[in-house]
Amino acid sequence: MTPIEQIILKKRTDLNPIWIMRQAGRYLPEFREIRKKNTDFIKLCLNQNLSSEITLQPLKRFDFDAAIIFSDILMLPYGLGQKVEFEKNFGPRLGEIDLSIITKIDEIDFVEKIHSVYKAIKKVSLDPILKNKNMIGFVGAPWTLLVYMINQQSPKKKLIENFFKDKFLINRILLIIEKFLKVHIKNQIENGANIIQIFDSWAGLLDEKDLPDYIYTPTLNLVDYVKSLNVPVICFPREIRNYKEFCDIVKPDVISIDYNTNPKEIIKKIKIPVQGGLDPNILLTDKITLKKETKKYLDIFKDHPYIFNLGHGVLPETNPEMMDYLVKIVKDH
Ligand code: CP3
Repeated sequence: MTPIEQIILKKRTDLNPIWIMRQAGRYLPEFREIRKKNTDFIKLCLNQNLSSEITLQPLKRFDFDAAIIFSDILMLPYGLGQKVEFEKNFGPRLGEIDLSIITKIDEIDFVEKIHSVYKAIKKVSLDPILKNKNMIGFVGAPWTLLVYMINQQSPKKKLIENFFKDKFLINRILLIIEKFLKVHIKNQIENGANIIQIFDSWAGLLDEKDLPDYIYTPTLNLVDYVKSLNVPVICFPREIRNYKEFCDIVKPDVISIDYNTNPKEIIKKIKIPVQGGLDPNILLTDKITLKKETKKYLDIFKDHPYIFNLGHGVLPETNPEMMDYLVKIVKDH
């Protein structure tokens, strides 16, 4: 059993495995080197040789306990036939949703469009470097994908006005998203993913009254689906204000917390294994501060099953040397 599985399945508290969200990415010069020559981000995600190589880059440098496949949550709308592009200094830009296209896509069309992601997972999971480590597959949560598909770009601090104007359309798209997320999860698992993380980056945008319809119910359906395939599932409902209620209703195997959440409150209320929390900005400070802040999380969770991670993705400005130091602090604790 891998260290992460010891935490999730055996609830051990005497070890602290570590992996980092966006561990393969722009803070690594070897990634930037490949990225420079591959300006189309989606194409890069669909290049199984390069995406598997990028996935392994951080594991060659740091003693992480898992690989996370280099892909993107927006491969789902891409697979459904929506236009998805990544613009430098802007982020994702999506085309309009064409219902006549996305309602006709079937499982075979979808898998054919993004099958290289599964081939890359297979390749990585067979690499000897993954011995005693996990291969993490992931999806965006239905709500976060709905936000991108309707908003056509990252929302800033709030939803566009009239986001919920056409409830009929929204509910129809949500059902399509849910159906294909299951297909996407199943294919990742069949090709070697042995943990699934569900990223709900925009959970914090919803009013409390809308949580059941847009977060709790669709995420619970996915969590139950992953569990039915005998694979642990980690949920990251970023900035949801009530993590306790989320855990009680959705029942993930692990809850990943964001950096605005007070870990001392979490430990009082939540019984399931916890992941993450440290502010990615701490990696931009100095080694003394990094050590102090990292130890804070390790101490708070010393008697609780805990997987070390950040409270959101690692920032591109991060010095890889600081990452190396972080891993050492966690492993030596
Ligand atoms: O964690 C990993 O190492 C695996 C790879 C991964 C990426 N995206 C690669 C990526 C994962 C797990 C994601 C998830 C993802 N993608 C999320 C959820 C997590 C979060 O950050 O909230 C979201 C919201 C997206 C959508 C997305 N993809 C955005 C908003 C952006 C642009 C912002 C940015 O950081 O540039 C991306 C692009 C993206 N996805 C990059 C990487 C490495 C940067 C691409 C580049 O090189 O320009």
